[in-house]
This record gives sequence, structure tokens and C-alpha cells, in this order.
Amino acid sequence: MPISFQSPQLPLDILALGCIAVDELLLSPIWPEPDTKTRLLARDRQGGGLTGNAMVGASRFGARVAYGGSLGTDSDSKFLRDLYLCEGISLDYCRIDPAFSPIRSTIVIDQSKNTRTIWFDLPGQLGALENWPPEEVISTSKVLFVDHYGIEGMIRAARIARAAGVEVVADLERDEHPRFAEILHLVDHLILSRKFATKRTGKQSAREAVEELAHFGAKVAIVTDGEAGAWVVAEGNSFHFPAYSVQVVDSTGCGDAFHGVYAACLAAGMPLIERLKYSSAAAALKALHLGAQRGLPNRLEIETFLRR
Ligand SMILES: Nc1ncnc2c1ncn2[C@@H]1O[C@H](COP(=O)(O)OP(=O)(O)OP(=O)(O)O)[C@@H](O)[C@H]1O
Ligand SMILES: [Mg+2]
Repeated sequence: MPISFQSPQLPLDILALGCIAVDELLLSPIWPEPDTKTRLLARDRQGGGLTGNAMVGASRFGARVAYGGSLGTDSDSKFLRDLYLCEGISLDYCRIDPAFSPIRSTIVIDQSKNTRTIWFDLPGQLGALENWPPEEVISTSKVLFVDHYGIEGMIRAARIARAAGVEVVADLERDEHPRFAEILHLVDHLILSRKFATKRTGKQSAREAVEELAHFGAKVAIVTDGEAGAWVVAEGNSFHFPAYSVQVVDSTGCGDAFHGVYAACLAAGMPLIERLKYSSAAAALKALHLGAQRGLPNRLEIETFLRR
């Protein structure tokens, strides 16, 4: 059953399918010994998930974003429904199905070593549906955002998008699904973390991995490498784009901020170098805050940072 909170507004800048989560964040001064008590520096509950974070980043940037996946009827789904509507993300094409539920994560950040450790569970189904959203919604969007949750639905949506000239932007972190290779060939802007890109390609470095990934046919292949920046291959050119240096509080979701703002800039028709500038700045600004979503900047904040 689709839900509609507002009248559908086509065309969309970004239609996103995939992983959404609710993150419980615990900021600890140390990693404790077993059987001890540690007073937390901060605790927070935020939206999360790679696609969820990218959607919020893109919406704050000013893009018209819709979530085309499913929410359930549990309290986490209700939390995200309210959050997305507050963020201006359309749920016109989101389905409500009690079998679905967001990922539930607990993220412990050890401030002494700047590490983040994540526990998560999957209380219900998650990811793109095989026959949803309707073809017209996909083919009239400017950008389709996909991840690896619900690969069959992602492949269908990416094929429709490709046939209609809609740009496909992907964040992929796992490749166990037997049809995973198919999605790789349907992506126009393939943006992967160094960890997954080197695992998938068998290469040692981000630079070698991005050159290998470029052979899959994307217009732009990017491998992000945290504070070491991003490696890019586009139109036969291979180059490095450095990260902006900031005082990091928490790097959770920097990659998701990068993806979301990249997709928003793409929908706005910005050239590649501008997309990289804005995405890297958004990710750096996010790192100043605890959690994946609270610190996601709006467009004005990014532009102010870039003018420094
Ligand atoms: N410590 C940092 N300082 C400045 N910029 C950063 C930092 N960490 C990440 N970034 C920016 O964010 C981009 C993506 O980061 P990263 O490679 O860590 O993504 P990721 O591993 O996919 O992270 P996640 O999945 O948690 O979002 C980098 O290319 C860089 O521009
Ligand atoms: Mg990532």
C-alpha cells in the first residue's frame, strides 16, 4: 500500500532506493575493559543507513528527493517517516508494509582512538522491491540512487533509468548477491569506498582500484579514501581529489554525505570538479559532528566553507 502525504511532484531530482537505518550513537572517552562502567560523553539517536544519509544530505543541499523503498509499522519506521518529512523528503512513492523495518544500529565511538564500532540487527525486510516504484516515476527522475539492498529491484530500476537517460549513482558495499555483477554495469557514477573497491577488484590501492572499476562502463568512477581524499576516473582522465582538512569528531557517514551531495550536484547540472568540491566539503563538514546525519550541511554552509 503506497502512502501519500502530499501530491506527487514530478519530476524528481533524486529517486532513492535502498538502505535506511536508525542509529543509536554512544560517544565514549575510551574503549572500556569488560565488567567496568564508563560515563558517556554524549548519546544521540539519528536517522542512518547509506541511502538514508545520502537522501538527507541531498535534500539539505536543495534537491527534490523521494524515497522509493518501504517503511514498516514499527517505531523505528515511524521515527524515520517523521524525520524524512521534516527533512523535506517525499514519501509519495514509499510503501508501508509491516514486513519491512529499518536497520537498527548501535555505534560506539571511542574518542581516545577515533574508532567507531557498529552493532546492528535487521528486524525486518529491507531494500528495493522487484516491481516498485512505477516505471514512470523512475524514468522521469533526474538521478536514480541505488545501493546493494534489494539487488533485483535495483537492477530493474537501473535498467529503466538507463533506457530513459536518467543518471544512475551508486554506493555499494557488499557483493555476495549472485546478480551483483549486473548492477555494476548499469551505473553511470560509481562511487565506492577504498575498502570495498580494493576487495572487489583485488587491487592494493585506491588508485589502482578506481582504474579497474572504470572498465565497468561508468561515466565517472570514484574511490573514496577517508581523509586521503578521492581517486577519480572520468573521460579517460585519472586524478586525485584531496579531502578538506578538518578537526574530526566522528567520520561516520562521511561517504554517505559525499554520495548525497554528489547526486544533488549532478541533478543540478554542475560539472564534475564542482561536484567533487561540494561533495568533499559536505563530507568534511559532516565529520565535525557526532553521527551520520546531524552534521550534514546545507548548501549555504558548504559554500561558506568553500570560500574560506
Ligand atoms: N577525516 C576526514 N577529513 C576530511 N574529509 C573526510 C574525512 N573522512 C572522509 N572524508 C571525506 O569523505 C569522503 C568519503 O569518506 P570515506 O572514504 O571514509 O567514505 P566511507 O568509507 O564510504 O564512509 P561511510 O560509509 O561511513 O559513509 C572522502 O573522500 C573525503 O572527501
Ligand atoms: Mg560508505
